[in-house]
Amino acid sequence: MAVAAVPLILVSALISLRYQSGSGCIPIDNIVDVCFGKIKMKRLITISLLFIALMLGCVSPAFAADLDHGGKIFSANCAACHLGGNNVVDSAKGLRKEALVSFLSSYEEDHEAAIAAQVTSGKNAMPSFAEKLSREDIVDVAAYVESMANKGWSAS
Ligand code: HEC
Repeated sequence: MAVAAVPLILVSALISLRYQSGSGCIPIDNIVDVCFGKIKMKRLITISLLFIALMLGCVSPAFAADLDHGGKIFSANCAACHLGGNNVVDSAKGLRKEALVSFLSSYEEDHEAAIAAQVTSGKNAMPSFAEKLSREDIVDVAAYVESMANKGWSAS
């Protein structure tokens, strides 16, 4: 009886293996099969595309500075001295393109990094914001200043 059960177990194991691997698929783990059958291959492609879309969706906001947020940071922290891209303390050193080019060190090398550096460290009558703003706030406000300077501060 026990001996007769052996081929039966073997056959059912084989059947379930074939059933699991489907149309020419070699199961690697529960999610990914290496497949040659059309249907499974399509499913694999769909899953991969979804995964890529998900990755892009998660990753891109980390790279792009948030201009809206930068605008809010500007209103709350900078506008007292720099309303409309001007400078109430030292009128020559405003935030218009010509002033940034003339007075902001390293501006030519990297626009937003130079603005962020001045916001972080401060200079003369301009206070440092290193303690007050997060790194992200500073990146966003620098992007906002750069974009407004490019627009001539017309749409503030
Ligand atoms: C208390 C007034 C004050 C505040 C608040 C202030 N700044 Fe300034 N800012 C200045 C002064 C003064 C200068 C000129 C510094 C110098 O070179 O002597 C300046 C210069 C700059 C410059 C270089 C432009 C140039 O023409 O030299 C940038 C960029 C800048 N500020 C951005 C900001 C940003 C962004 C904020 C807000 C996070 C801010 N500032 C807040 C007073 C201020």
